[in-house]
Amino acid sequence: TTEGVKTPIPGPTEATSLVRGPSQEQGVTLQLMMAVGTAVIGSLQFGYNTGVINAPQKIIEGFLNDTWNNRYSEPIPATSLTTLWSISVAIFSVGGIFGSFSVGLFVNRLGRRNSMLIANVLAFIAAGFMGFSKLAASWEMLIIGRFIVGLYSGLSTGFVPMYVGEIAPTSHRGALGTLHQLGIVIGILMAQVFGMESIMGNSTMWPFLLGLTFIPAVLQCILLPFCPESPRFLLINCNEELKAREVLEKLRGTEEVGADMQEMKEEARQMMREKKVTILELFRSPLYRQPIFIAIMLQLSQQLSGINAVFYYSTRIFEKAGVSQPVYATIGAGVVNTAFTVVSLFVVERAGRRSLHLTGLLGMAFSAVLMTVAMALLDQLPWMSYVSIVAIFSFVAFFEIGPGPIPWFIVAELFSQGPRPSAFAVAGFSNWSANFIVGMTFQYVEQLCGPYVFIIFTVLLLGFFVFTYFMVPETKGRSFDEIAAGFRHDAGEAGEKYAPDEMNSLGGADSQL
Ligand code: GLC
Repeated sequence: TTEGVKTPIPGPTEATSLVRGPSQEQGVTLQLMMAVGTAVIGSLQFGYNTGVINAPQKIIEGFLNDTWNNRYSEPIPATSLTTLWSISVAIFSVGGIFGSFSVGLFVNRLGRRNSMLIANVLAFIAAGFMGFSKLAASWEMLIIGRFIVGLYSGLSTGFVPMYVGEIAPTSHRGALGTLHQLGIVIGILMAQVFGMESIMGNSTMWPFLLGLTFIPAVLQCILLPFCPESPRFLLINCNEELKAREVLEKLRGTEEVGADMQEMKEEARQMMREKKVTILELFRSPLYRQPIFIAIMLQLSQQLSGINAVFYYSTRIFEKAGVSQPVYATIGAGVVNTAFTVVSLFVVERAGRRSLHLTGLLGMAFSAVLMTVAMALLDQLPWMSYVSIVAIFSFVAFFEIGPGPIPWFIVAELFSQGPRPSAFAVAGFSNWSANFIVGMTFQYVEQLCGPYVFIIFTVLLLGFFVFTYFMVPETKGRSFDEIAAGFRHDAGEAGEKYAPDEMNSLGGADSQL
């Protein structure tokens, strides 16, 4: 099972950085970068739609008011406005919950690449609904559009890390996996910048700002047909050895792909008796219980860190902290967010997932304390508003060091081919549900706790730190098969008693649900 390590790819400790340019390094070829780059357009869409609704809040509320006035000949009551606005924001994560949970329905039937391709239909429909909602004087269209683009984003958070994880060489899996997060943060930043009043965050342009999501969809539809299907999917799911080898040769830029092929075949052999693993089986089988628990906890650590309290409400947070130009501070947070994702990209193969995640969580906890101090002392010390900017920036920076990128790509690493689709569904569902909860409740909790609201995140962060310290294994530089073998070993006797054949009878292996 260790054959996979004998690849011509440089080991994780030698040449892991992408600094020298893809084509100069064995294993990271132009074809590979093109495939990954095309896939992460889906991540960009997710980020864009996460950030886009933030800046133009007042403008779109104006539209809701006008439409209400036209329909009922009276201004919209404050409570209806809040409700309509909250729904428009939060329905995105509801779409994400459904989308991410459905990942397994697509990836094994259509393949990874074609699933990404087909999902763009949703992006087009959503762009239409959102882009024409003003013209049609319909907030229903706005809400439906946000839901549909949420569906698309939910699917993307499964499709993209799965595809990237499956085509990446072992030694670069973390760095390439981080590109998913980089796509997300660039999307957020673009939305923040385009959403400025002078650009598109105004009453004439806002429908275009939201409808803009169709452009990346067009781009992805043009480029995806030139990208290969995942060789793991071709070999393990379709038994197409020749095609798999052909794709692998192109991706790796060498004909010496024997070691990779062998590693995949080994995985295929392991999977023979448990081709598809349903969601239920993930929880019932001792083989998967530990990795699925870890995957869920890592997703929760990402969302319950409070990151989206910042990305949904930063302008308001800065306002409360006495910052005079809150919109610029928000864009500053977006820039720091992007910069530190790039840092993580370069260090993840050296430092490893575990230590980066731990560092990130601890740094965030520290930043949250700093934020609390700044908010609490603001009345006595007006310069605390600067401290609050530093605190939020470092909160975001530490997030991107580990808790941002790692939970997304580690799911592909913790599971082998059989359980992977179901694992992505469960992980995505956990992530999006927690995202929804934070997004919906933060403002209310803040009203209750005042300046001490970040203490809640501090406690959660420290809890996740302890969990990660004791439970999360290092996956850096290990093949999928080796990682799975580690869990099989941990499951020990229990795993043996619970034969895979038996697991398949646990309820429609085909359904994935
Ligand atoms: C992660 C989270 C997402 C968040 C983003 C911020 O991708 O999943 O919810 O908005 O990071 O950079």
